[in-house]
Amino acid sequence: MFSRYLCSFSTSKLKTSSYEVLIVGSGIAGLSAALEIGKAHRTLLITKGEFTDSSSYQAQGGVAVALSPNDSFERHAADTIKVGDGLSDEKVAEIVAKEGIERMKEVIKLGVDFDRLNGDFDYSLEGGHSYSRILHQADQTGKAVIEGLKKHVESLRLLEIKERTMLVDILTISNKAIGALVLVPEGELEVVQANAVVVASGGVGEVYLYTTNPPVVTGDGIAAAFRAGASIADMEFIQFHPTALNWEGHRRMLLTEALRGEGALLVNQGGERIMEGVHPLKELAPRFVVVRKMMEELKRGNKLFLDCRHLPSEKLKRKFPFIWHKLKEYGFHLNNDLIPVSPAAHFCLGGVRTDDWGRTRIDGLYVCGEAAATYMHGANRLASNSLLEGLVFGWRAGVAVKESLKIEESSYMEERVRIDFENTPQKIRDFDLSELRFELTKKMMEKAGPVREGPSLRELIEFLTNRKEALYPSEISIEFFELANLWTVAWLISQAALKRKESRGVHFREDFPEKNDSEFLGHFIWKLGDNGVELEFHRKSC
Ligand code: SIN
Repeated sequence: MFSRYLCSFSTSKLKTSSYEVLIVGSGIAGLSAALEIGKAHRTLLITKGEFTDSSSYQAQGGVAVALSPNDSFERHAADTIKVGDGLSDEKVAEIVAKEGIERMKEVIKLGVDFDRLNGDFDYSLEGGHSYSRILHQADQTGKAVIEGLKKHVESLRLLEIKERTMLVDILTISNKAIGALVLVPEGELEVVQANAVVVASGGVGEVYLYTTNPPVVTGDGIAAAFRAGASIADMEFIQFHPTALNWEGHRRMLLTEALRGEGALLVNQGGERIMEGVHPLKELAPRFVVVRKMMEELKRGNKLFLDCRHLPSEKLKRKFPFIWHKLKEYGFHLNNDLIPVSPAAHFCLGGVRTDDWGRTRIDGLYVCGEAAATYMHGANRLASNSLLEGLVFGWRAGVAVKESLKIEESSYMEERVRIDFENTPQKIRDFDLSELRFELTKKMMEKAGPVREGPSLRELIEFLTNRKEALYPSEISIEFFELANLWTVAWLISQAALKRKESRGVHFREDFPEKNDSEFLGHFIWKLGDNGVELEFHRKSC
């Protein structure tokens, strides 16, 4: 079903550039890696859209970190593990909670500030945390962090940045990454040779009709790493956010959980609080509990709203200025109107399997941030943990790359490598490309969304298999490459969701509503081998 590369090429016929390191992605993980590597090595950082088109940049909620003297990293790690529903790696959760403190102190030193109150940080509390430890800058924390880091990354003499440049495929020779095939803004394929490739290209949100992620998030890094032979784990675990603006004809805009933290209610058209009697924490119950209840209500034909009408207007305006103004542009008043909401795909907990230093099973290929499966989050992610994970693992991947370059013989790829590949493009039948993409995202939402069951997952897999021509682009263009990548991650998600015949964390099977540790306490891992896709189940060692 899958081919090693997306399209035919011959490196000898393509324009080629050489760097010591190639970094893919301009979110927090990519920038954290760049800050570490770009001081010492000739590095190229590419990003598919503009520099600021990333989920990190759009993050509204904050960064969870045990900075307060009364808090501790052990406590933060324990909360992470508890929420992870049996599948968090305890060691990784501790690494991130502990090193996150140092990394965040560095970020603050670099000039990024967070909201303060009475001379200290104004830590907020979010669902699942046993202590107020979330740093934020109003409702645009990601923007503050990324803009702060961007200035420093741009000033690195050895680092070059290329926007509107898409990762097409990771080039390998004998299980060693030697660079990448990229699509440049002029629409041409080019080769970037590098001794190390760091993929920090984010998650898979666009594979769902409704997502809080920006449109660039099409699973490119995960799909390219899969084609290159990396192990892909935990793809069934997709976190849906309960409160995305549900206004037909518009992208789903995130309405941060912090609004519910301030007392916003979830109600139906009859004004009933839907979380009453469902969970003791009501609107602040774990996200997947809230999402499941919302899906039940929607199935019954009810409409759902976020109700902030009882909250003080001044506080809403001060704490949520971005949401306040954005809603106003759309004709809603946060303090006077019921705001229509529904769940939307938010975060991919799985991805490319890495070790504790971002290394993969392919020599020279490192993955960090949402594209990676470090197993920190397990089956459910604790709120505001993802920016911290990206920061810590971006830095760790950077350290590992520097170490590996110390022992490499050449300083960077000076010799031209030669790879020739032939693929047969397949014409997309019936539909045109955008219709096929729409069909995919709609089916993913219906059949591999927050509520799943065997027969519809099988139907979905049949659809993906029957239309597998989407995996063989007939044109060299972003649209065709993105469709192939979306197809790939859709296949991985639906296969993994079908295999996991239990309900755990964010993965809910209507036909297997209970957790089943005896059979499923572990991780499904997919790999493209010489004879097709291989599947392994790695039991979690306790
Ligand atoms: C939010 O602001 O609600 C999202 C934060 C997160 O997903 O960690």
